[in-house]
Amino acid sequence: MVGHKVVSLILFLAGWQEVATLVQVRHVAVDVGQDLTLACAEEDVLPHTDSPGVMWIREGREDGQIKRLKVESNGVLELVNVSADDAGNYSCTLDDDADAVKSRINVEVRTPPPALRNVWVKPSTILANILWEVGGTGGYPIIDFTAEYRLKPSEGEKPEQWKPIIPTHIPPNSRQIDVYHLVPNTTYSFRVWATNQLGRGEIVEVENHTHHSVEELELARHLLAGVEDFDTRVWVAAVGIVMGTLLILGIGTCYLLYRECKAPSGGAGGD
Ligand SMILES: *[C@@H]1O[C@H](CO)[C@@H](O)[C@H](O)[C@H]1NC(C)=O
Ligand SMILES: *[C@@H]1O[C@H](CO)[C@@H](O)[C@H](O)[C@H]1NC(C)=O
Ligand SMILES: *[C@@H]1O[C@H](CO)[C@@H](O)[C@H](O)[C@H]1NC(C)=O
Ligand SMILES: *[C@@H]1O[C@H](CO)[C@@H](O)[C@H](O)[C@H]1NC(C)=O
Repeated sequence: MVGHKVVSLILFLAGWQEVATLVQVRHVAVDVGQDLTLACAEEDVLPHTDSPGVMWIREGREDGQIKRLKVESNGVLELVNVSADDAGNYSCTLDDDADAVKSRINVEVRTPPPALRNVWVKPSTILANILWEVGGTGGYPIIDFTAEYRLKPSEGEKPEQWKPIIPTHIPPNSRQIDVYHLVPNTTYSFRVWATNQLGRGEIVEVENHTHHSVEELELARHLLAGVEDFDTRVWVAAVGIVMGTLLILGIGTCYLLYRECKAPSGGAGGD
């Protein structure tokens, strides 16, 4: 079917700019894994079966792409199972008029979010703060972030299950989350990713070691000990004193108000 036509595609870098500036760019967005067809020109401008072939030019080389590319007999470029690497600029010319670029198309491939950037963990003794930055959304807004942690497995040991970090759906404007109830002087692995409507993004995993600070531990112990040893009788006595004081103040105020109200009327009566 295509045999009698000279249909070709070349991968090409130099010369793009000068060719490119002449035509309006079309923008096309496609979800990763979908198929995409690009028409070289409007239906009526398309070459007939006996006319010369269509040539598609892509900026930059993408090895492995060629297998998933097809130029239909009507000159339409078809990309099968689009991958993120297929994003870029494509243009097409007709063989009989190779100087004139008929079409220039900027292809955007939408993907799940790429890996978060600058992910790091700021540990203390019994909690840690995971921080990250967003490098890109993948083309759709980020719905939420997810973070998990687990003990770093020691040599030859089977790693434990990842534990969720609450909330499991971290709002899209957050850039950090706290993890509680860690054990001091222990190495943990943490992982975090963003999700958009195409799914879970690339996972970034980092590890860090909780502090073993004697002072911090002592402080924590002291606070916890204080809670445990707390005597409710002390509390009752304290509340009693406060309530008693308030009561006395209240009575005093009422008495004063009563006298204030009484005094003028009494004065008027006296006049
Ligand atoms: C599409 O490509 C991905 C890898 O890029 C591959 O894993 C998948 O099986 C392909 N799907 C189809 C339908 O060819
Ligand atoms: C496509 O061309 C535009 C200029 O027209 C340029 O800004 C952009 O970076 C190019 N895209 C790619 C992926 O090279
Ligand atoms: C581990 O924690 C230290 C601070 O205690 C911090 O300087 C370092 O960047 C952290 N490393 C990672 C990979 O998060
Ligand atoms: C921290 O743990 C290591 C082994 O995991 C141990 O050798 C070290 O003594 C511990 N440090 C403190 C201050 O307990």
